[in-house]
Amino acid sequence: MKTLQLTAPEQYYQLLSLPGSASEQEWQHLSELLTNNESYFFRDRQQLNLLKNQIFPQLIQQKRQQGDLTLRIWSAGCSTGQEPYSLAIMLKELLLDLDAWNLTIFGTDIDLAALNQARAGIYSQWSFRDTEPRIKQQYFEPLGRNYQIERSIRQMVTFQKLNLLRDQFPQLFSNLREIDLIVCRNVFIYFGSATIGKILAKFYDTLLPNGYLLVGHSELTGQNLSRFQAQIFPQSLIYQRRADSLTSQQNALPLKICEAVSFRTKRQPVPEANKLPVNPQPLVPLQQQVKLPLIPIPQLSKIDVASAAQAMSAQEDAQKLVQQAKHLWQQKQSNLAIKKAEQALAIEPDNIAACCLLGKIYLELNQLDLAIAMSDRAVAVDSLNLELNYLLAEIALNQKDNDGAKTIFKKILYLDPESIKAAIELQRIYQQLGDRPRASKMAQQATRMLQKLPHSQVLPICNNLSVAELIFQLKTNL
Ligand SMILES: C[S@@+](CC[C@H](N)C(=O)[O-])C[C@H]1O[C@@H](n2cnc3c(N)ncnc32)[C@H](O)[C@@H]1O
Repeated sequence: MKTLQLTAPEQYYQLLSLPGSASEQEWQHLSELLTNNESYFFRDRQQLNLLKNQIFPQLIQQKRQQGDLTLRIWSAGCSTGQEPYSLAIMLKELLLDLDAWNLTIFGTDIDLAALNQARAGIYSQWSFRDTEPRIKQQYFEPLGRNYQIERSIRQMVTFQKLNLLRDQFPQLFSNLREIDLIVCRNVFIYFGSATIGKILAKFYDTLLPNGYLLVGHSELTGQNLSRFQAQIFPQSLIYQRRADSLTSQQNALPLKICEAVSFRTKRQPVPEANKLPVNPQPLVPLQQQVKLPLIPIPQLSKIDVASAAQAMSAQEDAQKLVQQAKHLWQQKQSNLAIKKAEQALAIEPDNIAACCLLGKIYLELNQLDLAIAMSDRAVAVDSLNLELNYLLAEIALNQKDNDGAKTIFKKILYLDPESIKAAIELQRIYQQLGDRPRASKMAQQATRMLQKLPHSQVLPICNNLSVAELIFQLKTNL
């Protein structure tokens, strides 16, 4: 404001609101001041190893089998370019026949100055704080006290200014469409939940079916991810666009128009012999690399059931495994319980009891990301499942989200009017919120239900307290 010789914040607001180049320029300047461009090569090595060892090889193999050597990667919020260049180096090393590929790597950012620096490809020593010396030696040339990235790598990345919030994508007339992998890390931290939801919908539309989305750890907590499948690896979660759902626009359009705008129709036909099944087999994390508990996630349509009878017996096997897993968990053998529940999911991928059990175990182990991924997966199967709603409520309580927990416990009472747990929890939440009339109503409701049970009975769902203890607590709380 000082530079512009403005005296009141309202004047500055007016300047930003005006149409025209003065406002555009000021927005540019403001975003440069407000955004944090911190980045470095091979940031979060674990995530990049997941791309290098699992995701890229799988994509490459799939494309070769399809006879379509097109690969589109997008680093969204790429800042000064270290992220897309790291991806370019990895792909150059993986694709020995690089010249045969139609490879596009996009780097987009709102900040023009950052993009200009990215295009120049000149970096200080600080950008290499987590880079193998070999990579620096092989792909960078010293330039005074700095280093410039080799021209062949620079040429692999196309930089473009793009505001994730305001600009449209997919873009029909550029290559910013039908993307195989979007990497958007350390960007969502700038946005509120509703804004992240809107950007996610656009990412979804920009991805190919089965395309991947990699974000920073925990950056999508609380988002509705039902149109993505979470793939859980020891290194990181990665989301995969479900193959069978419509784009956001298609959801809103009549079918005929959807078909007309479908990107798929414009793609080169794939030779019949090279065609993969419609849903390529999703990646199964490598068992031998496992340190954390692992969950292979086959997709529903890929369950290999030769007949209905086989399916029934698979279901029974899965149920037995879940029972065993529950028992092991009660015996405090969490790791074994996780393994059994994973086996159940491998047999029956939409086994909601297995998802919920894993969610509860992960929550107990303080692995909130994994607990949320399990609950997301269960929501996609049946959002009205009671056990799932208990899990969602526990997650909300764990995040100190009293409002969220209140909504879910109300839903539980609606689904099961005899839920003592929901009535007790609602009584506690209302009391904390200072809403005495509602707290008292809930206490009465819970007491009425408890009085139908033997007073010595212990209720595991209510912290293993007996009926008598719970009635006493409810009385003294009021
Ligand atoms: C901390 S950097 C992350 C860089 C890189 N992804 C990484 O993880 O190293 C965040 C970047 O997000 C960009 N950004 C913030 N808001 C944006 C928006 N609305 N549209 C596009 N980029 C945005 C900033 O300009 C900044 O360069």
